[in-house]
Amino acid sequence: FQIVVLVSGFGSNLQALIEASRASSSVFSIQAVISNRNDAYALERAQAANIPTFVITATAGQTRENYDQILSQHLKSFNPDLIVMAGFMRILSASFTEQWHHKLINIHPSLLPKYPGLNTHQRAIEAGDDRHGISVHYVNAEVDGGTIIAQADLAIESNDTPQKIAQRVHQLEHQLLPKVVMAIARGEICYSKAD
Ligand code: GRF
Repeated sequence: FQIVVLVSGFGSNLQALIEASRASSSVFSIQAVISNRNDAYALERAQAANIPTFVITATAGQTRENYDQILSQHLKSFNPDLIVMAGFMRILSASFTEQWHHKLINIHPSLLPKYPGLNTHQRAIEAGDDRHGISVHYVNAEVDGGTIIAQADLAIESNDTPQKIAQRVHQLEHQLLPKVVMAIARGEICYSKAD
């Protein structure tokens, strides 16, 4: 079972996937890492793990559809069983998500359907929520709107800041994302048309 990981930044979730893929119990491997930014630290993590990396930056005036077509061509060349968006900070066009919907998952730092989009920790604090968390979901054309596969939650403390929450959120993500990928690789979670 082969996956491609899409990244834009620090790549701590990529690192968790690299480690899980190398565990003796692992049932998946990482074929390639694709970043839309050439300065993503995630690329260094992939290179250190001898995983092929590709950078596809958007050019000025390029349409979203055009970028997504180029991304799609790269993905097709790998014929992956699963594409994991691990901090990939681009919105994908409907034609892209329709093409890959059964093979495309994302990790998002909120308890969806609460707080799609950005600044989720700040928004949860401002709303006075006492629970917050993360979601792994299939990706459709609606931003952070596809079927939820798994979630994990944590308590928001009275003195919490977005930065403090981000640390705990990352710990949860590093556990949950590899678990979900393993479960999909083992066939324990299957995409259904309703997703
Ligand atoms: C994670 O918090 C993820 O939920 C969000 O972007 C962040 C990526 O972090 N989509 P990292 O690059 O994996 O460290």
